[in-house]
Amino acid sequence: MKKAIQTRVFPDNDQMSREAALEIFKDVTVRLEQNESFVLGMATGNSPIKLYKELLGLFSTYKGSLTKFFTVNLDEYYGLGKENPDSYYQYMMKHFWGPLAEIHSTFHIETQTIIPNGIAADPVEESARYEKAIADLGGIDLQILGIGTNGHIGFNEPGSPGSSRTRLVELAEETIQVNRAHFGGDANKVPKQAYTMGVQTIFEAREIVLLVSGASKAAIMKELNSLNNPTEDIPASFLLNHPNVIIFADQLAISAYTS
Ligand code: F6R
Repeated sequence: MKKAIQTRVFPDNDQMSREAALEIFKDVTVRLEQNESFVLGMATGNSPIKLYKELLGLFSTYKGSLTKFFTVNLDEYYGLGKENPDSYYQYMMKHFWGPLAEIHSTFHIETQTIIPNGIAADPVEESARYEKAIADLGGIDLQILGIGTNGHIGFNEPGSPGSSRTRLVELAEETIQVNRAHFGGDANKVPKQAYTMGVQTIFEAREIVLLVSGASKAAIMKELNSLNNPTEDIPASFLLNHPNVIIFADQLAISAYTS
């Protein structure tokens, strides 16, 4: 039988984000209520922006403590420090950590978030530090992902081995072209390298939520849907073997194989 990843389809990005936020919020708070920790793996980019907004709305009604809530990010541009407005650190401050810390005095950005340091002196040491930081938290409970138009997850570009762990990678030309929109349209301003969790690091998350929205993702989703087995050519396909992954998609993103 052909392998397929469980997929929930919504009419649009708003509804997709709302439903995904409800599920994630429930997962997080059930554990916090039991006085257990929860480690949420975060993605950046366009896909999770509304999800984070919805999550913040839900957290604003939450009366419990967030002391045991931790976040871990997928990736960070190489060469961008956390003060750099284009860094993923600043993206997280704007879209999630900053507002969450404002609502909840028990959420401390310094101690409850981890993200690679884009300006660390030694990339090998930084990658090892990052893996250790994730392991010290007890691993990732739920990882939020987006997918690149070339099938990347995190910045694991085509050709990334399934066994890969956090490391410094070269960005694919396609990724640079897509991401230049965040750099005033200038591809020369997009960093050419980034730290990313590896495919294996991601795979070890106990649960994975992949968000896919918009017509630009239709072609890669069709390709992913046609595969029986993982291939390094489409790193997202390694998720086919993960026991607990769910795709939240909007209609446009899967239009190429449903119409
Ligand atoms: C972001 C990341 C990337 C994005 C992917 C999709 O932290 O790791 O893999 O999830 O490039 O980006 P958007 O959501 O902008 O289409």
